[in-house]
Amino acid sequence: MSNQDWLTRSTQAVWHPCTQMKRHERFPLVPIASAEGAWLSDFDGKRYLDAVSSWWVNLLGHGHPRIKQAIRTQLDQLEHVMLAGFTHRPVIELSERLAALTGLGHAFYGSDGASATEIALKMSFHYWKNSGKGEKCRFISLENSYHGETVGALAVTDVPLFSATYAPLLQRAIRVPTPDARLAQSDETPSAVALRAARALENVLRKHAGETAALILEPLVQGAAGMAMYHPDYLREARRLCDQYQIHLIADEIAVGFGRTGTLFACEQANIRPDFLCLSKGITGGFLPLSCVLTTDEVYQAFYSDDVRDGFLHSHSYTGNPLACSAALAVLDTLQEEDILALNRDKAERFSRLMQPLATRGDVRHFRHQGMIWAFDVETERGDFALAFFAAMLQRGCLLRPIGQSVYFMPPYCLTDSEMSQLIEATCLTLDHLAQGRTEGAAQPPLP
Ligand SMILES: Cc1ncc(COP(=O)(O)O)c(C=O)c1O
Repeated sequence: MSNQDWLTRSTQAVWHPCTQMKRHERFPLVPIASAEGAWLSDFDGKRYLDAVSSWWVNLLGHGHPRIKQAIRTQLDQLEHVMLAGFTHRPVIELSERLAALTGLGHAFYGSDGASATEIALKMSFHYWKNSGKGEKCRFISLENSYHGETVGALAVTDVPLFSATYAPLLQRAIRVPTPDARLAQSDETPSAVALRAARALENVLRKHAGETAALILEPLVQGAAGMAMYHPDYLREARRLCDQYQIHLIADEIAVGFGRTGTLFACEQANIRPDFLCLSKGITGGFLPLSCVLTTDEVYQAFYSDDVRDGFLHSHSYTGNPLACSAALAVLDTLQEEDILALNRDKAERFSRLMQPLATRGDVRHFRHQGMIWAFDVETERGDFALAFFAAMLQRGCLLRPIGQSVYFMPPYCLTDSEMSQLIEATCLTLDHLAQGRTEGAAQPPLP
């Protein structure tokens, strides 16, 4: 069957995420038949370089042999068992390994990123309730934050396109200024921007700490804000203030965990430990849905009691699925045994050098880089920039989805120098063509 056959059937039967389906009348879906390494292939044999790791999940490359083998082996032993009342090897080993890596010794599992956010928010509130402080029922989140789109997660997400419609359903979080380094005033350093934002956080805490359970943030990079990057001083200050004002710190590393920012977890760069660490996306290398919330002994102990209602009565059917946990173990094995983070450091240096022609373009602003993420803002008058860029890059065989005017590369770690060069060349050509007012082809409208 051809691309055309599949996309006709898909638009009839599948309700696609984050999409106004009517737009597919004009912008066809791209049916994908197979994938390997950094490449996706459609049913007509066209290939696309997956420069966004398929919504940031595909950490090591598509079809990674070691992850595939781990899932196959697990498949012959145990595909699933409910985790309430039962346990199994992959979930125990994964929890032990994550505890050793983070110093957070209790792992609670969900399936997607948003379910991890829900778990952390509920657990934080419930901790305070069990501790006789049930009035601590609000949350603080950063401007332009993104923590998922279920009703609880949406309340701490600050992307009006996603949240405004559902405002009547949401218990909206208290918003504090973002430490986004792009907001530097005159000659402010990224650290000064971070400290200014931290002072604003302290002002809010002075007023609201008594009614607040937790501050939730995306450490170092606010992904859906267009890869807004900030200085680790903000994290250090946030940790200090959360301790001082007695609220939890929830680190949402769903997008940035597992080496994306250059260290295994972004919090390491500020040398802090959050009270809750949310993980998902890259945890299984993009093979299976899995999320996890890690927390401290202190939080765990607040739930440990003879009264069932003091326990954390939250569950998802696929909690701690053995296949997903075995994929996650294979990801950790690969990262550690192949010293991927050290390789990434060298690779990132080379990639950054290759990007100089892009970074120094006249229409590029705020070129920024953190670990295996690069981003820049394009100065353009085009209201349709994101869509036009996405469509033109697809024609050139690259998958990139700008967020507004911010273009970012978040490739699988297997990307080679020559693939990166291809990507940069296609990006420069596309920016040139769009600046001349040309639009090539048509594709799905890009949203984060
Ligand atoms: C920082 C962050 N938190 C939470 C989520 C939600 O994850 P999911 O889409 O798996 O629900 C995302 C997804 O992009 C994210 O980037």
